[in-house]
Amino acid sequence: MTKVKIPSHLLTCPVVFISTSYGEKRDIMTATAMFISEKEPLLAVSVAKDHLTADLIQESGAFTVVVASEDQRDLYKKLGSLRGEEVDKFAKLSIQTLPGRAGKAPVPEGAAGWFDCEVSSRHWVDGYTVVIGRVVGYEDREKQPLVWQKDSLFTLKEF
Ligand SMILES: Cc1cc2nc3c(=O)[nH]c(=O)nc-3n(C[C@H](O)[C@H](O)[C@H](O)COP(=O)(O)O)c2cc1C
Repeated sequence: MTKVKIPSHLLTCPVVFISTSYGEKRDIMTATAMFISEKEPLLAVSVAKDHLTADLIQESGAFTVVVASEDQRDLYKKLGSLRGEEVDKFAKLSIQTLPGRAGKAPVPEGAAGWFDCEVSSRHWVDGYTVVIGRVVGYEDREKQPLVWQKDSLFTLKEF
């Protein structure tokens, strides 16, 4: 059994990609997300302030949470290490994206689903911007999602 050295690593998290675009710029990074409420469709993400993603959320007032699928295990690592300030990750990794999303953040093909969000509020916590987003559109692509805990990846098993 793996010993947990960082407390947050004990928490089971959905693996998501936060996709953003503003003008000619676009970016996508590996992260996690949680729902704030069900009736009001609000969810939260936490983005380090020095990430291009944080700048693009601030400039556009929007972001898309992409639910990573079990087929995107390779992508999760690459999007969690490349820096959008240095490289256009979509071009560098030849990421194919879903059609019909002009003016919105791109969604990689093969995702388990996605949520388009408008920024509802932002909170600054240490070096992070915690962004509460209101879901204004979503799609279930009916694939198995990717889950993360103790630095390992899992997928779901129904009881
Ligand atoms: C499993 C995993 C989860 C991550 N979660 C977050 C997160 O919630 N917030 C964050 O700021 N960075 C997170 N990261 C790190 C970013 O994905 C990484 O720093 C990325 O390169 C930032 O991209 P950007 O500079 O293009 O915005 C995570 C990385 C991994 C591998």
